[in-house]
Amino acid sequence: MHSGTTITQFMIEEQRRIRGASGDFTSLLNDVVTACKVISNAVSQGGLVGVLGTAGSDNIQGEVQKKLDVITNDIMIKSNEWAGHLAGMASEEMDDMYPIPKQYPKGKYLLVFDPLDGSSNIDVNISVGTIFSILRCPPDVTEPTAKDFLQPGTQQVCAGFALYGPCTMMVLTTGNGVNGFTLDRNIGEFVLTHPKMSIPEDTQEFAINMSNQRYWEAPVARYINECLGGKASGREKNFNMRWIASMVADVYRILTRGGIFMYPKDTKDPSKPGRLRLMYEANPISFIVEQAGGVCTTGRERIMDVKPDDLHQRVPVILGSRNEVERVIRYHKEG
Ligand code: AHG
Ligand code: MN
Ligand code: MN
Repeated sequence: MHSGTTITQFMIEEQRRIRGASGDFTSLLNDVVTACKVISNAVSQGGLVGVLGTAGSDNIQGEVQKKLDVITNDIMIKSNEWAGHLAGMASEEMDDMYPIPKQYPKGKYLLVFDPLDGSSNIDVNISVGTIFSILRCPPDVTEPTAKDFLQPGTQQVCAGFALYGPCTMMVLTTGNGVNGFTLDRNIGEFVLTHPKMSIPEDTQEFAINMSNQRYWEAPVARYINECLGGKASGREKNFNMRWIASMVADVYRILTRGGIFMYPKDTKDPSKPGRLRLMYEANPISFIVEQAGGVCTTGRERIMDVKPDDLHQRVPVILGSRNEVERVIRYHKEG
């Protein structure tokens, strides 16, 4: 028998602390958690059930869709459209927002998600995840359009990600710290295993796609050069590098033992101000990282203060251990 706190119990106890909470939000979160359990199952079956490989289509961002990008998007939609808590959804894998179908009641929340982060890693059996963010639908809006989703990250009610690795984990914040849950497959429940996660202020580990080095701006090139040189470049310490290319996995490492993760602005494709998507990736991850004591910036601005102007907008992302991220911000100010 398990003896830990399940995610459902945890959420109901949180809800009791909020006066006037109707239980709608807890129920919505429960559906998201169920979707992640279904996705965890699909991902873990891999080649046995023929879900690996490409789908033969591109998404709106010109990226080749994997079969699992499409399958996991569908799981998120089907798990969350019916219960009456949502007014609409938006996803990295859909061109436009998804209105709640007419046959279902509508609710007061909006759900945005990246159904499978790191999906380029899926065929090589490296950790992937699902990132989500819950926003309030503006008052008096019953038929939301894309512009109703364009709220800065500071407006998020909840953010979380599931990580499908050796363990399936769920990491959540509702603005009251960050908690991590591990899926106990014997009972089919996420159990609280990592309460009050906190990112150490200092680190000797950095994560960046080094193959983009020649496209970086000067402040990022300066910072990474110093990390590579370590004590020989005037830093007080030497650094190690890790790069998984699944943001969820890189961020989970930082939540566990600190680090700095960067997908900065570069000149590789001038039409893209960054690689990662503000609504589906940068904002929810920022909410979690800040709640764990870390810092998240574009280099020039706090990510959660960016006013979105497009659902699929991209931003530069620099996040993690406070003292290192603040150093990079300083380098941007120095130009
Ligand atoms: P997605 O699979 O949802 O498109 O996101 C992948 C992201 C992120 O997880 C990762 O950090 C980054 O893309 C890696 O990109 P590159 O391999 O192109 O550098
Ligand atoms: Mn992603
Ligand atoms: Mn994705």
